[in-house]
Amino acid sequence: MKIVFKEKLADGNLSERILQILTECSDEFVPPLTSRNSTTQSDFSDTSESGGEVPYAYYDMIKNQSALIAEDADGAVMGFMSYKTDYTNGIITEDYLPDIYISTVIAAKDFRRRGVTKSLYNALCEKYADQNIFTRTWSTNISHSCLLQSFGFSEFHRIKNDRGDGIDTVYYTKAKTRAVER
Ligand SMILES: CC(C)(COP(=O)(O)OP(=O)(O)OC[C@H]1O[C@@H](n2cnc3c(N)ncnc32)[C@H](O)[C@@H]1OP(=O)(O)O)[C@@H](O)C(=O)NCCC(=O)NCCS
Repeated sequence: MKIVFKEKLADGNLSERILQILTECSDEFVPPLTSRNSTTQSDFSDTSESGGEVPYAYYDMIKNQSALIAEDADGAVMGFMSYKTDYTNGIITEDYLPDIYISTVIAAKDFRRRGVTKSLYNALCEKYADQNIFTRTWSTNISHSCLLQSFGFSEFHRIKNDRGDGIDTVYYTKAKTRAVER
C-alpha cells in the first residue's frame, strides 16, 4: 500500500473513484453523506431525508481540500482522508492554531480491515506532528473512535444528542508532538 499526498482531493482523474467510494459508503455515516451540505455542518437537525443517491454536494465541499490517498500496488484507490488546514470554529478556537481538521476518512468496502485507515492516520500524524489535529465523529461509530484513541486522540468536546436520540457529536484531538518548524 502507498499513501499519496494531494494538495487537492480532486487532483488528476480521481474524481470518479472518490465519488464511487462516497456513494457506496454514504449510508454508513450519521447522517448519510447524501443529506449533508458541509463537512463542518453544525446543524444536523434537518438531515433525516437522504438528498439523492450520489453525494455530489458533499463531494463539492471536500474536492478542493488537501488529501491523503491510499493506493494498492496497481494504483487502485483503497481509501482516503480529506482535511482542512488552519481550521477554527466555535469549538476549535485560534488558541489551537496551527491545526489540521480531518473532514472525511473512508476505506472502500472491498478494502476494509486491511490497515488502510491506520496507514492514513500514521501518514497524517507523521506529516503534521508539529500541528494540533482535530476531527469529529458520531458517538456510535465505535470502530472509528477506537482507532482514534489508539493513535493518541482524546475527547475534546461532546454535543449531546446532536445527531438524534442518544447519538452525540464527539470532537477528538491529538496535540502536536513536535515544535513548529520555521
Ligand atoms: C471506520 C473505517 C474508516 C475503518 O477503516 P479500515 O481501513 O477498515 O480500518 P483499519 O483496517 O485501518 O483498522 C484499524 C483498526 O480499527 C478498528 N476497526 C476498524 N474497523 C472496525 C470494525 N468494523 N469493528 C471494530 N473495530 C474496527 C480495529 O481496531 C482495527 O484494527 P485491527 O484490524 O488490527 O483490529 C471504515 O470502516 C469506514 O470507512 N467506515 C465508514 C466511514 C466512517 O465511518 N468513517 C469515519 C467517519 S468520521
